[in-house]
Amino acid sequence: MAPENSKSVTAIYPGSFDPVTNGHLDLIARAAVIFDRLVVAVARNYDKSPLFPVQERVEMLEAVTFDWKNVEVDVFEGLLMDYARARGARVILRGIRAVSDYEYELQMAMMNRKIEPQIETVFMLPGEAYSYLSSRLVKELAQFGALPKGLVPAIVEERLRTKVG
Ligand code: PNS
Repeated sequence: MAPENSKSVTAIYPGSFDPVTNGHLDLIARAAVIFDRLVVAVARNYDKSPLFPVQERVEMLEAVTFDWKNVEVDVFEGLLMDYARARGARVILRGIRAVSDYEYELQMAMMNRKIEPQIETVFMLPGEAYSYLSSRLVKELAQFGALPKGLVPAIVEERLRTKVG
């Protein structure tokens, strides 16, 4: 059957976003010009001991994506594919920074395809300046007061400072 090209394409960008980094933002900027609607979906209860509660992660994401009118921030729980189906999404967006990301991402993408073959995982590469950046390292460096400038948005830097002293 011929694809329905007239339909607008919703992509879901799922993740923990604990917290959002400039690498995530770089990917959002790239994806926002490709997809009609981009839903940045924060996974609830995925990591049992996050630094930021879901509501705070959402607030930070909303603040930093405010300028993109086709970007929305949402929260999901349970199976990603159930959520994606419910949102009428055709694409799951994931970023790949380095080869080391590939194996885990491949497993997830293949499993998700098995669950819902109609939804395609699309991988995008963040700018090379962010190829080594992760929320985990950001949190670790912030705890030592050693977070270099330019890796997270200003609002995240502020909240990290409040959180970890
Ligand atoms: O940013 P992260 O932590 O790598 O995000 C991983 C996430 C939350 C996207 C992934 O673990 C997920 O989709 N969790 C929801 C539960 C689910 O659908 N699991 C099956 C994956 S094949």
